[in-house]
Amino acid sequence: MNNDLRKRPVEDLLDLEAATELDALAKELSEHDKAYYQNDEPNISDGEYDSLRNRNEQLEASFPHLIRSDSPTKKVGASPSSGFSKVTHARPMLSLGNAFNEEDVREFIAGIRRFLSLADDEPVEIMAEPKIDGLSASLRYENGQFTLGATRGDGAVGENITENLKTLQDVPNSIPESGTIEVRGEVYMAKDDFFALNKRQEEAGQKVFANPRNAAAGSLRQLDPTITASRPLKFFAYAWGEVADASFGTMDNFFQSLKNWGFQVNPYTKLCHTVEDILALYDEIGAARAELPYDIDGVVYKVNRIDWQERLGMVSRAPRWAIAHKFPAEKAQTVIKEIKIQVGRTGVLTPVAELEPITVGGVVVSRATLHNQDEIERKDIRENDTVIIQRAGDVIPQVVSVILDKRPTQSIPYKFEETCPICGSTAVREEGEAARRCTGGLICAAQAVERLKHFVSRNAFDLEGLGGKHVETFYNEGLIKTPGDIFRLADQEDMFTDREGWGQKSFTNLVTALEQKRIIPLDRLIFALGIRQIGQATAKLLAKQYGSLNNWRAKMERAQILGSEEYEELINIDGIGAAVAKDLLTFLAEPHNIKVLDDLGDILSVEDYEAPTLDNSPIAGKTVVFTGTLETVSRGEAKAKAESLGAKVAGSVSKKTDYVIAGSGAGSKAKKATDLGIVTLSEEEWFELLKQG
Ligand code: IVH
Repeated sequence: MNNDLRKRPVEDLLDLEAATELDALAKELSEHDKAYYQNDEPNISDGEYDSLRNRNEQLEASFPHLIRSDSPTKKVGASPSSGFSKVTHARPMLSLGNAFNEEDVREFIAGIRRFLSLADDEPVEIMAEPKIDGLSASLRYENGQFTLGATRGDGAVGENITENLKTLQDVPNSIPESGTIEVRGEVYMAKDDFFALNKRQEEAGQKVFANPRNAAAGSLRQLDPTITASRPLKFFAYAWGEVADASFGTMDNFFQSLKNWGFQVNPYTKLCHTVEDILALYDEIGAARAELPYDIDGVVYKVNRIDWQERLGMVSRAPRWAIAHKFPAEKAQTVIKEIKIQVGRTGVLTPVAELEPITVGGVVVSRATLHNQDEIERKDIRENDTVIIQRAGDVIPQVVSVILDKRPTQSIPYKFEETCPICGSTAVREEGEAARRCTGGLICAAQAVERLKHFVSRNAFDLEGLGGKHVETFYNEGLIKTPGDIFRLADQEDMFTDREGWGQKSFTNLVTALEQKRIIPLDRLIFALGIRQIGQATAKLLAKQYGSLNNWRAKMERAQILGSEEYEELINIDGIGAAVAKDLLTFLAEPHNIKVLDDLGDILSVEDYEAPTLDNSPIAGKTVVFTGTLETVSRGEAKAKAESLGAKVAGSVSKKTDYVIAGSGAGSKAKKATDLGIVTLSEEEWFELLKQG
């Protein structure tokens, strides 16, 4: 670079000279960025780097017509053009169950005692620490080097954000440990840093964030690591994923190792010996909450002994050995401007209060859910009422109570709609149900759109590049009516040319995403259909029971006959009862739903449910029933163990049962097993069988 040029005052430069210099600066800065962020080897000092950036900014300010399309300043503000690559977690990243009061905490400990069949005088040590309101990340170290960093994603698959995580001071580049180790923890932004960032953003005319959590998320998920580097993110470590040597023994030791490796562990972390200890710490942290430099939303309790953690295992996607004790919701007072009715995917009419915007716990709230008709009547909530609202964590804010003294004199009770505000169909309320539902089915645009949105959502087809807003627009334009139409978007390139917000690139990305998602696991497909009461866990149960799409459909067709063998099989799945079966079968009895499934069957390649590979499990694929009282383990632990070895645990005995395990006092089930000629095992024989693996 012509250094003489760089020494001259910007005002003295001619257009041609400025352009030459801007060209050189763009190249140099990009090389320095790469050296620093990607190779971790900066070749100039921070001060020198800053002065190059300053020079570039001055030149751009004086010669705005010469600003390059690849300008280094623009790059920082650029919007993501392609996504992050995916990372399958070596071990899933779990979520946590919640405790809302002392009773829940006592029950958590009691449940652990029962599960582990502990003697009354055996202490259950608990490691307690604040629940940080940020986002979790997993950091993988191999041979002591930080090699891979990922977001939680859906718990099984996250995004590769290694380069971004490298920019955090609290994330060591290397640790003194040779085996593979994944350290997990929370990325967060301190409150002061959040306010300062928002101030800078506002001054620069850029987007401001609603709260520190959003700011942390927005900063971390930047495709350009230089942006992440410019944001003050921090990290507390609190868990592990895959580890070559998991011989910590206790959480206590693990936290010690974390500190030795150079991680930040929350200073409030404390080993508690009794429930009283736990509750006292909860109060202590609660009292300090407002003064803490970062947002927390509760206290997490974890069983200290790791061998116990392993025995306790998990339910759904949360460990049995940990729980989050939430702080009470934050409250505020505001006015309901209007009550609006929203129509959901299954036709439920949900009343929503449009509020005079108000800040609650650092977040601006402008709507609150009113749940249903009964809730409105019980609290006598009316338009123009002054109300107390509360928000807890990520849940939608709620109206707690009405301040009657502030009610306008001409106020009238709210009358709940009896027709659907979207399609005009009657909305009925079935006996015993709180919800009023639109009867319009798919002629109701709201239901159709919500169903399609659910179909593309993260835990369903996870169609990146096709957000809820797009779905709504495409539906309104008649471009998509059914889930299958979404896949046919790929053939409609002409509809995308000149469409606002859709460049060639985003269309190509969408086509790629659609192509990728043509192969889908059975449980995701079932979940994506958006059937009432069929959430992710139930969809998994169905996939596990029936294995393939064809088998599931064939069996469901026959299960339409109440009392048929297939119907019995369905309601006998542990976790599915008559009510869930009813919603499922009603859905599958509708011709338009069958059409959707046929269509998807043609378009997609649905993967059969893959049982965890348990080559040497003696009970993989077997159906077992427990009855009577077991002596050495609790029923819960026995069931969890059987499932982890690939068995299905059923609630009642049928011809399909392979083993009945009869504890003491076993009655009719054991008898039925004998009648049907099914192998009945004692508790001891059962454990003998498991050992054969
Ligand atoms: S432990 C099995 N500890 O809370 C262990 N989580 O609701 C799983 N979180 O996804 C997490 N602070 O993002 C744990 N001290 C803490 C935490 C914490 C915040 C988050 C984490 C997790 C979520 C679950």
